[in-house]
Amino acid sequence: MRCFLRIAALVVLATPVVVVVQAQEDGTTNSAPLTPTQQTRLRRHANLPALSVDATNAYANREEAVALGHHLFFDPRLSGSGSLNCTSCHDPNKAFTDGRKLAQGVGLINRNTPTLLNASHHRWFYWDGRIDTLWGQALEPIESPQEMNGDRVAVARLLIQDKSLRQAYEKVFGSLPTPSEVVEWPAHGTPRFDRPEERDAWASMSAEDQALANKIFVNVGKAIAAYERKLLTGPSPFDLYMQGLEQGRTTLPEGMTPAAVRGAALFVGAANCRMCHVGPLLSDSEFHSVGIVGNDGDVMQLPGRFGGVQKLQANPFRASGSFSDDATNKQAQLADRLVVGPELWGQMRTPSLRNVALTAPYMHNGQFDTLEEVLTYYSTLEGAIFPGHHQEAILEPLGLTDQERADLKAFLISLTGTPPEAIYLSPPAAAEDSSQSATSSSSQ
Ligand code: HEC
Ligand code: HEC
Repeated sequence: MRCFLRIAALVVLATPVVVVVQAQEDGTTNSAPLTPTQQTRLRRHANLPALSVDATNAYANREEAVALGHHLFFDPRLSGSGSLNCTSCHDPNKAFTDGRKLAQGVGLINRNTPTLLNASHHRWFYWDGRIDTLWGQALEPIESPQEMNGDRVAVARLLIQDKSLRQAYEKVFGSLPTPSEVVEWPAHGTPRFDRPEERDAWASMSAEDQALANKIFVNVGKAIAAYERKLLTGPSPFDLYMQGLEQGRTTLPEGMTPAAVRGAALFVGAANCRMCHVGPLLSDSEFHSVGIVGNDGDVMQLPGRFGGVQKLQANPFRASGSFSDDATNKQAQLADRLVVGPELWGQMRTPSLRNVALTAPYMHNGQFDTLEEVLTYYSTLEGAIFPGHHQEAILEPLGLTDQERADLKAFLISLTGTPPEAIYLSPPAAAEDSSQSATSSSSQ
C-alpha cells in the first residue's frame, strides 16, 4: 500500500519529545505535517465535545445522584452473593475493564468487557446495542444470573433499610417507604424469565409493591448512570496535536510521535479506518461485521445487532419506555423505528478507539491480545467469516507493511486521554463506612 505521508525530515528540537515534522506530499515540500485534506479529515476525530444532555434521565447531572451512584457502583450488596460489584469487571485500575478475554461474573460471559471511559457518549450500549439508555444498561448486570445475580426486590430493600443509602437516595429521588412497610415483601424478586425462583416470588407481590420496587430499581440505574457520566477522559496527545495545528503550530505535544502522525494520515487515508471509526469517539455509533466470529467459532450463532434490536425494542428500560423521563425524545423514537433485517446478523457496534491502548484484549470475543494482532488482522483478514453475502464492501485486506502497522499502532496509542477526576476512581470514603456499619448493624 502506498504510504500517504513521507517524512522528509525530522528535526529534533530542545527536548526529545518536541519535534518538527516536515512532510512531503506529491513532490511539494510542505511545512505542515499533514496535507490539508488529511487535516480536515482528522479534525473530525479530535476533541470530545461536552457530554450531551440525557433527557431520559432527569437526574443525570445532579451531583447528589452522582454521589449515590458512585457509592452503588462500588457496593457488592447489589449482587446476589454480596461479593461482586461493577468494579469486579470494570476495574478503575484497568481503565474500567477487567483485562480478561471474556468477562467472569457468577458465570463466564461470552463477551469481552468494554471500558466505561467515555461510555456515556455512546448512543447504543453493549456490543450488540441492545439498550439505548445508560441507566437501563446498569440494571442488566445487577440481575443477570451470569453477572451479579442480584434482583430488584433485594436492591430496593437495601436502599430502604441501609441508613446511609436511604439518606442519599431520598436527597435525590424523594421519600422511600419505611422498613416496616415492606416487611411483607419477599427477600428476592424479579420478573425476569431467566430467574424462575425470583420470578415466582415477584408474582406473589401486589402490583403496587411491584411498581414501587421497579421505581427504586430504576432510580438506582439513574444514579449509577450519573456517576458513569463522570468517567470521561481529558485531551489525548492526538487532540493536543490537532489543537496545535489549528493554531498553526507544527511542534508535537508530549506523547505524539512522528510515527503517530504517519499513522493518523494512514487512518484517514489508505487504511480507511475512518469509514467506521469516525467522529470524536472514533466510532460511527453504528454496527458492522468485520468478520470476527463468535467464541464457538461460528458466526451463524452470533446474532449481533440482529438480536440486539429485538431485545432493545422489548426492553422496558429503553428510552421510549415508561421509566424514561422523556419517552418522546428523538432518540427514544429512533429505537422503536429500527427495522430488523438479515444484514444485521453478526454486526457489532464499532468500538470507540479512545484509550484503546489501555483496554486489551480486543474485539467482542476478546480474541486479540494486542493492538499488533488487531492490525495484523485488518492487514490480512485471515480467519474472517462474514455471514451470508453481507461482507462490508469497504473491508478488504489492507496488506499493511510492518512500518505501516507500527505507525497505526502509534496513532492508536496517541488516543489515550488524561484520566477522569481521581475521586471517581476509588470508592467514596463514606461508602466504606456505611457498608461497615450496615454489616455490623444488620448482620443477619
Ligand atoms: C461479570 C462482569 C461484569 C459486571 C459485574 C458488570 N459488567 Fe458491565 N459489562 C460487562 C460485559 C461483558 C459487557 C459487554 C456485554 C455485551 O456487550 O454483551 C459490559 C457492558 C457494560 C456497559 C456498556 C458499555 C458500552 O460501551 O456499550 C456499561 C455501561 C456497563 N457494562 C456498566 C456496568 C455497571 C454500571 C455495572 C454494575 C452495576 C456492570 N457493568 C457490571 C461485564 C460486567
Ligand atoms: C467496516 C467498519 C470498520 C472498519 C473499516 C474498521 N473497523 Fe475497527 N472495528 C469495527 C468493528 C465493528 C469492531 C468490533 C468488531 C467485533 O468485535 O466483532 C472493530 C474493532 C476494532 C478494534 C478493537 C477495539 C476494541 O476495543 O476491542 C480496533 C483497535 C480497531 N477496530 C481498529 C481499526 C483500525 C486501525 C482500522 C483501519 C485499519 C479499522 N479498525 C477499520 C469496525 C471497523
